[in-house]
Amino acid sequence: MDTRRIAVVTGAGRGIGAAVAERLHELGHRVALLDVAADSAAAKARELDASGTTARAFAVDVRDPAAVRSVAEQVRREFGTPEILVNNAARTQSRSVWDIEVTEWDDVLATNLRGVFLLTRELAPAMRERGWGRVVNLASLAGQQGGLVAGAHYASSKAGVLVLTKVFAKELAASGVTVNAVAPAATRTPVMDEMDAGQLEAAEAAIPVGRFGRAGEVADLVAYLCGENTGYITGATFDINGGLFMR
Ligand SMILES: NC(=O)c1ccc[n+]([C@@H]2O[C@H](COP(=O)([O-])OP(=O)(O)OC[C@H]3O[C@@H](n4cnc5c(N)ncnc54)[C@H](O)[C@@H]3O)[C@@H](O)[C@H]2O)c1
Repeated sequence: MDTRRIAVVTGAGRGIGAAVAERLHELGHRVALLDVAADSAAAKARELDASGTTARAFAVDVRDPAAVRSVAEQVRREFGTPEILVNNAARTQSRSVWDIEVTEWDDVLATNLRGVFLLTRELAPAMRERGWGRVVNLASLAGQQGGLVAGAHYASSKAGVLVLTKVFAKELAASGVTVNAVAPAATRTPVMDEMDAGQLEAAEAAIPVGRFGRAGEVADLVAYLCGENTGYITGATFDINGGLFMR
């Protein structure tokens, strides 16, 4: 049986999303790299396959329902029907809860939570019809405990991702489609370059494992959950946080 699938990874231009796209591609899947940053997604896709046959970039803003609908159609038409969806795109924003403007609150929620809702509703029905699918949502330790560095809007959006994961998992469980969440913390990606150095140093010192996580480590866990033999795992949250939070 050919178990190579078509995978969509959002926010695949850099960081964890790029590492996930790379890992799924290594495993033989054809990968659609979605990102609002079209150039970085295109560069990553070219790195994986310059011909665009097994990896291709698609520009989309996951906040925008019309854009999500149109990119889903484009991926289906030009690339094939996705059976794997990794909802990874997010806006990470630090700010004291007292200083968050309502526009920024809405934008972080639209990117991190509405994006997951929109992409999953677009792509999961075809998985349900085929009787096989894997959806993995990138949540965060922040969604369980409040952010170490990230703000209340980010943490609230990720708490929403955790429950949305369970909602979709219940809806799709009987049809061979699993939906799980991976909750990283303190993984070294470009988003950290934009953060305060002092805060980062304090955050690293607090990690029991003694270092930041690597994007490839998160990607391996995501890829595992997208595998053939994981049909009995659904609605679950997997922590990958160097021991920062133990259940
Ligand atoms: N790095 C960490 O320590 C960490 C910790 C917990 C959770 N996470 C989660 O893991 C995921 C990846 O994190 P990262 O550190 O690689 O992030 P990142 O900021 O490095 O990358 C995010 C990607 O998403 C894209 N993106 C942002 N807004 C978008 C939009 N509206 N539409 C489409 N694409 C958009 C960006 O262009 C970027 O390529 C995120 O969901 C994040 O919340 C990361």
